[in-house]
Amino acid sequence: MTFLLGLDISTTGAKALIVEHTGRVVASHTTAQPISQPKPLWSEQNPADWWDGIVASIRSALAASGLTGADIAAVGLTGQMHGLVLQDASGAVLRPAILWNDQRTQAQCDEITARLGLSRLIALTGNRALTGFTAPKLLWVQQHEPEVYARAAHFLLPKDYLRYQLTGDYAMDMSDASGTLLLDVANRRWSMEVVDALNIPHDWLPRLVEGTEIAGVVSEEAALLTGLRAGTPVVGGGGDQAAGAVGVGAVSEGIIGLSVGTSGVVFAPLSRYAFEPDGLLHAFCHAAPGAWHFMGVMLSAAGSLQWYRDTLAPGESFDALVAQAAEIPAGSEGLYFLPYLTGERTPHPDPLARGAFIGLTTRHSKAHMTRAVLEGVSFGLRDSFELMKAAHMDVRQVRVSGGGAKSPLWRQILADVLNAPLARTSTTEGGAFGAAILAAVGAGVYADAESACAAMVQVTDETGPSAQAGEYERPYALYRSLYPVLKETFTRI
Ligand code: XUL
Repeated sequence: MTFLLGLDISTTGAKALIVEHTGRVVASHTTAQPISQPKPLWSEQNPADWWDGIVASIRSALAASGLTGADIAAVGLTGQMHGLVLQDASGAVLRPAILWNDQRTQAQCDEITARLGLSRLIALTGNRALTGFTAPKLLWVQQHEPEVYARAAHFLLPKDYLRYQLTGDYAMDMSDASGTLLLDVANRRWSMEVVDALNIPHDWLPRLVEGTEIAGVVSEEAALLTGLRAGTPVVGGGGDQAAGAVGVGAVSEGIIGLSVGTSGVVFAPLSRYAFEPDGLLHAFCHAAPGAWHFMGVMLSAAGSLQWYRDTLAPGESFDALVAQAAEIPAGSEGLYFLPYLTGERTPHPDPLARGAFIGLTTRHSKAHMTRAVLEGVSFGLRDSFELMKAAHMDVRQVRVSGGGAKSPLWRQILADVLNAPLARTSTTEGGAFGAAILAAVGAGVYADAESACAAMVQVTDETGPSAQAGEYERPYALYRSLYPVLKETFTRI
């Protein structure tokens, strides 16, 4: 029996998950994480809170499992992507981490695009500059906090700060590094042209490792704090989306990961590097070595339903709310919902996009509005699938996860709108489970991520497209026509 530990620092919690090499979950513990919005558009956390939270979670998970640190064969790391942790030469953190959902850097994105040119930037990194990414945050600190910038000697991403605390290493895996906008994603190395264009000292760049590669070992000091054994191998791991995709077995072409959480993510593995010519899809390295992926990110997916329930049906359960929508025909009788409640990334990289109900008449009830939300989010996710189809991606099966996937009605709407079968898998532990799978490969239990997923991930059920699937074609075409005509109005608002 081999046991693996997956650690996940999400925006809301620090999770430790102990998994057997068969895929059986043994124990899990999450310590909630505070978040601060000190100014409009800002979103920050203290890396010290992440570390304290993960130490507490490791101790609790070990205690609940009845295992000791000596039983853990390897550790895998994952977490929220893109967040900037700046450290001085001694490793001390210089300012709160600036997170993925912080929106302060539009001016820096424009400046990066102007310095390199949009097409050169996309050719070098596979991506366009987005406010969530790390490079614009580095430029922001350079311009707004020069005294902090002058003392910096290292930058890391959230999960890699945990690695630093666990092992003392400054390292980053390829999938997470892709979201910095400093990686030459095609060649899996730093893009010195981008690094130099932003005047980032070369010795700040962490060592790059693959997701399944052993990148360091638990130090004596970290062992004392966590209860792990000193010398336990720690693999590269992956950003939360790449690790989450591994966790549902989306490691080979045609198996698409679809996560319907607060945000909605469409994740398509690629066996060869490709990029979307306008940078509308993220083109990132996968956590599986030698693989890449396209990713579409909708900022408010189940987050739209959450907002809608909290605002217009407070106190009502999601089940009761969604049940009413089942009575409404496909297309919500001409009512449309645009899910851009927190701006959008894919397919409209536009922080100023806004949410909307369009087509309201006196005939429409609350149930219509609920259904319109479920359909609008599904249409927005289809936009990412359309971009992937245009890039000649094959869709054999969609592996769905996240809170939104718990609703049978929403799964059916998604299967119909996407016209693809939607499968669920055995765990709901997200990225932490994928990080444990990557650790199993690093520990030598499996030869590669594909065979580890084949052994550790099981499909539990599948929802196929129904006879109604065709009824969404016209409403989807109409949905697609709405953003282009409203874009300018959104900007004026
Ligand atoms: C991915 C992204 C989010 C964060 C937080 O590009 O921004 O998934 O990683 O979960």
